[in-house]
Amino acid sequence: MIVTIDGPAGSGKSSTARAVAERLGYRHLESGAFYRALTVAALRSGIEPAHWDALDDQALAALRVRVTPAERGFRIFAGDEEVTDALREPAVNTEVSRMARVPAVRAWLLDSLRDAAKGVNLVAEGRDMGTVVFPDAEVKCYLTASLTTRARRRLAEAGLADPSADELAAEEARLAARDRVDSQRAVAPLRPAADAIHIDTTTLDFDEQVARIAALVRAAAARASGPARPLDDPQPPP
Ligand code: CDP
Repeated sequence: MIVTIDGPAGSGKSSTARAVAERLGYRHLESGAFYRALTVAALRSGIEPAHWDALDDQALAALRVRVTPAERGFRIFAGDEEVTDALREPAVNTEVSRMARVPAVRAWLLDSLRDAAKGVNLVAEGRDMGTVVFPDAEVKCYLTASLTTRARRRLAEAGLADPSADELAAEEARLAARDRVDSQRAVAPLRPAADAIHIDTTTLDFDEQVARIAALVRAAAARASGPARPLDDPQPPP
């Protein structure tokens, strides 16, 4: 089973995907972490963001970003260093969309993302999981929330539970800028798959949204395994 959860920053994708995966015993694939890891590695290698559009396969390979499965998710390395803790640094937040819009980067990551799904039940979250990476996923969700709600969540995550109007406006502007790059790029833009279920999390209770998606997955799994055959049903011919 593959479950995809796409949506803009702060829509609740990551926390929801993690909780759904936990509840169902599935693996959690945070595709944004792959783009963030390449961003960390490029910044550390001193490659100017203005030159990222020219990155080719050779340059990407030289960044030595690799991913290894962990118990519930994945661990991410750049060179020999595990970079999981650096993925959410402010400089990475600012520059990651610039990395993610490069066609060679997206092509380069496609196989790694699909490899992660081999032989496991997966909850994959990002921007193009349901549209490009896993178009045949059994369950697709698209999460949204108002810009203000998303900005408040991001600030709360950063420890600012009661932001001033200026702080809130600045975070809204950062998120809106990233949304713009993500949804207007030529390759794999942020948009819902035609068959995605839309969930607005602005006012939804977190447990409620997790339960709702887990129920969708259970229903899809039951459909996929077909109706139970009554005991007195004759065996189908071999
Ligand atoms: O958690 P948040 O939504 O802020 O970000 P994320 O999921 O870690 O994604 C960071 C960035 O990676 C996004 O703003 C996109 O530019 C890019 N991304 C993408 O292009 N495609 C994906 N499937 C996932 C992330």
